[in-house]
Amino acid sequence: MMPFEGLSRRQFSGIAGSLALGISARSAKSGQADSSKPARPTNRRLASSFPSTFLWGTATSAYQIEGAVKDDERGQSIWDHHAHTPGTILDHSNADHACDHYHRYKEDVQLMKAMGATAYRFSVAWPRIFPEGVGSPNPKGLDFYNRLLDELLANGIEPFATLYHWDLPQSLQDRLGGWASRDTAKAFADYAGYVTAQLSDRVKHIFTINECSRLVHLGYGTGSDAPGLRLPQQELNQVRHNVALGHGLAVQAVRAHGRVGTMVGPAENMVTCVPAIETPANVRAAEIATRELNAGYLTVMLEGQYTDAFLASAGNNAPKSTAEDVNIISSPIDFVGLNVYTPDHYVVAADNEPGFTLAPFPASFPHMEPTWLRIGPEAMYWAPRQLAEVWGVKSIYITENGTSATDEPAIDGRVYDVDRIMYLRNYLMHLQRATSEGVPVQGYFPWSLMDNFEWSDGLEKRYGLYHVDFKTQRRTPKLSASFYREVIARNAVA
Ligand code: NOJ
Repeated sequence: MMPFEGLSRRQFSGIAGSLALGISARSAKSGQADSSKPARPTNRRLASSFPSTFLWGTATSAYQIEGAVKDDERGQSIWDHHAHTPGTILDHSNADHACDHYHRYKEDVQLMKAMGATAYRFSVAWPRIFPEGVGSPNPKGLDFYNRLLDELLANGIEPFATLYHWDLPQSLQDRLGGWASRDTAKAFADYAGYVTAQLSDRVKHIFTINECSRLVHLGYGTGSDAPGLRLPQQELNQVRHNVALGHGLAVQAVRAHGRVGTMVGPAENMVTCVPAIETPANVRAAEIATRELNAGYLTVMLEGQYTDAFLASAGNNAPKSTAEDVNIISSPIDFVGLNVYTPDHYVVAADNEPGFTLAPFPASFPHMEPTWLRIGPEAMYWAPRQLAEVWGVKSIYITENGTSATDEPAIDGRVYDVDRIMYLRNYLMHLQRATSEGVPVQGYFPWSLMDNFEWSDGLEKRYGLYHVDFKTQRRTPKLSASFYREVIARNAVA
């Protein structure tokens, strides 16, 4: 049955019209509740609200939205190369044009504003700034980000910049083997320092690397992401170490070149370990599992050492590392960004050496449209809570959360993505539990502002709050954009 079936045509078009503006039917009508009914208890709203300083944003990344891959002397990235290699992208698309955000950024800033968002997480494309990865900076490439920042700030939207969202300059891949070389980590730090010096008058929050683990595992392990390599275990472990080192060197470069007040941290997809049943023993076991299963990334970044279990299981394949390296990797950070999509494991306490068992997922476990995206909203509570409990992290941003959906337009042309709303609502309720218990989450950036190029899944997997017609570049709010607008307006789960 279609949503709104049974309403008069006038009522329906009123609702549909207000959806087009991204506002709720009720507030569009009169802004007043029905006075014949007793007012709803206000404590419902209070119970689900977020701290008054909580930031509501949206998120994207350069290669996924910008298009304009040859404009203004941008260099080639490993993703341009990969997407143009036959057989790599599910729907045979590429991001040559993507959302054409490079030319439409002003319109896109208005999309954020229409939802009431006051923060935006984007990434800077390294090959626009240094087309060859190193050498002389390209002022035209930098200018795009100057224009974008000015537009954001003029519209009251606080920029959060990611320095590396996977679009390595191809030249560094060709000459150095990409992250297989320490020199790539050093080049990353130089680029990070330069961008920070240029932009930190307006950007106060800088993320170093987005999802280290995915770029390592899918880029160099399975080969499904760029650069499409399948390295043996020792080399793969070295890539992981070099990426972590790149993070640490970039933290230091941001500190060295940032204006006063510049803050820096990673944006990680932590392996999220949920206690299967919330008992003290399982909670403790899930914390132990969190530490061990994130050993190559967050644990070494936050503790300055690889765990014994990690080194023992790597054996002869352990990465070549020095005390100086792990000091760099664990350079002090100001916050941690977390991309939270799904519970990676449900954990049960066990009387064994690590002290936990990972429950196998039953085949019947529910998932969203992507099969990897198991529905477990409680991941949104446990991931930040464990960061705070295990490592004492004092400032956390949820840098991504969302789902792809089939998003078929209805007969009226609109996308009633109630599955995405169900997903977001439930995750947000668990985030609200976290903030109400004092877990220091400062803001939330749903993925994504608009449909875009979903890496090896191409343009057909849609994650946006706005629908994008890639032929006409028309952006249309989905129902989830209205939902998110309500959340922001109430500062509470809607
Ligand atoms: C995480 C990545 O950072 C982002 O680029 C990607 O589109 C989403 N996950 C969805 O897969």
